[in-house]
Amino acid sequence: MTNISVDHLTGIKDLTQQDIELIFKTADSFKEVINRPIKKVPSLRDITIANIFFENSTRTRLSFELAEKRLSADVVNFSASGSSVKKGETLIDTVNNILSMKVDMVVMRHSSPGATEFLSKKVNARIINAGDGTHEHPTQALLDAYSIREKLGKVAGKKVVIVGDILHSRVALSNIYCLQKLGAEVMVCGPATLIPKYINQLGVKVSNNLVEALEWCDVANMLRIQLERQDIKFFPSLREYTMLFGLNKEILNSLSKEIVVMHPGPINRGVEITSDVADSKQSIILQQVENGVAIRMAVIYLLAAKIER
Ligand code: CP
Repeated sequence: MTNISVDHLTGIKDLTQQDIELIFKTADSFKEVINRPIKKVPSLRDITIANIFFENSTRTRLSFELAEKRLSADVVNFSASGSSVKKGETLIDTVNNILSMKVDMVVMRHSSPGATEFLSKKVNARIINAGDGTHEHPTQALLDAYSIREKLGKVAGKKVVIVGDILHSRVALSNIYCLQKLGAEVMVCGPATLIPKYINQLGVKVSNNLVEALEWCDVANMLRIQLERQDIKFFPSLREYTMLFGLNKEILNSLSKEIVVMHPGPINRGVEITSDVADSKQSIILQQVENGVAIRMAVIYLLAAKIER
């Protein structure tokens, strides 16, 4: 297969296993490109991409921009702060105004779940979801699974535990879909108040005991507590959360086997993960960030092939 089956990337849920494998194979080629002295290919010289971010971002935004520039696309950046969104303009009007400047593809982060899917039905451009509220963050899940494949040789048959604030995490949902499509077993671990009630419908294991979950897994993906999405208290204090669900070196060293440690970032050092674990040789956190550029180049390249030109 040489074509991705979707016209937009709004969520991992829409991708087939073959789509994900095609993205990984394409990312392998681009990873080789970005390790060359000249880290650029002319593939998308005729394409213009707008990065539209209505929420804060460091990694995703920079990674998309680098990916686009390394494919030689023209790039424009837009953030809600300082824009006419503050004057009451709707999402559709904002995007249609940007598209009238002959933009072919939109990468969007938005606080509302479903915002990118809504946009994909309303505007004439390829849409990529860079995180929509608590719903999905597909390119994060792709780069996470790609990093597991790189570290452990394959994803199928591996046991991955996602630890922390599952309830508010778009990374967790996209990771569950992606890992399961690739044949991994998935467990979620955290306080019962941060595990969504619908979790059993997703076919994942659930644990409220960190050590038990870590003993089970090959890979632990540690998530940040998303305080910005919590309008009520889900646990007594961050200190108590850390005592029960924070990963430290003592716990890591006590396990019966060496596991791989991941984190999508941003890290809250000393809360969900201590510095000595985040910076340890078992951590692949910076490899995840590096792989993000190759994965995003692959996604953009494959969707751009579907633009009529
Ligand atoms: N992982 C992630 O989405 O990080 P940013 O919020 O910095 O983009």
